[in-house]
Amino acid sequence: MKKLIVFSVLSLFIFINCSQKSKPEITEELKISLRSDAKSFMESLKSVLIKEIQTNGIVKAVSVCSDTAQVLTNNYGISKGIYIRRVSFKNRNPLNVPDEFETKVLEMFEEQFRNGQLKPESEYAEMIEDNGIYKVRYLKPIFVQPECLNCHGSEEQISPQVKEVINKIYPDDKAKGYQMGDLRGAVSIQKTL
Ligand code: HEC
Repeated sequence: MKKLIVFSVLSLFIFINCSQKSKPEITEELKISLRSDAKSFMESLKSVLIKEIQTNGIVKAVSVCSDTAQVLTNNYGISKGIYIRRVSFKNRNPLNVPDEFETKVLEMFEEQFRNGQLKPESEYAEMIEDNGIYKVRYLKPIFVQPECLNCHGSEEQISPQVKEVINKIYPDDKAKGYQMGDLRGAVSIQKTL
């Protein structure tokens, strides 16, 4: 009888221990793959943008970009098994408002930016648990480059025609008034493990 009790307690102990999945680690390999996803996502968006500006002009590019960005956001994620998008405190599209986690990281990026510590290679990764499922969340800052100013720059830098299209599609647009080198927002990735 005593043996049976010891055996049962031991089995229960082993069962409890084994059923608790341990938190996966963020390996360098995982970081490299997230970094490369963020990079190629931004490159595809930029190449669509540049091509559109060159072939049809800046005004057409606004409406094309507004559709392409969201379509690409969905398709890119599906093909890679990840959830990827761009977020910003000064968003143009209401769909790009950061969630609680993204807000925390963007605030950190902004603080680093103010202190001159934020670099193009800066990134943030954290493993989180959501209802027993582990996923890695990854953010990488996006900086303003010269070609962005046509649509995100000062009042003088954005042509009246471009302004008209933007205001029509995005009546609550906050994404103007940026300068070269400013922190524009971040690419945000979620990957379930
Ligand atoms: C032709 C005009 C145009 C140019 C040029 C342009 N953008 Fe945008 N940008 C848009 C539009 C339109 C949206 C909203 C699209 C969407 O639904 O994500 C947007 C959205 C964004 C967002 C998502 C957050 C938000 O505000 O909704 C980021 C980040 C961004 N742009 C960064 C850039 C950067 C960086 C550049 C330069 C490399 C750039 N953009 C150049 C028109 C432009």
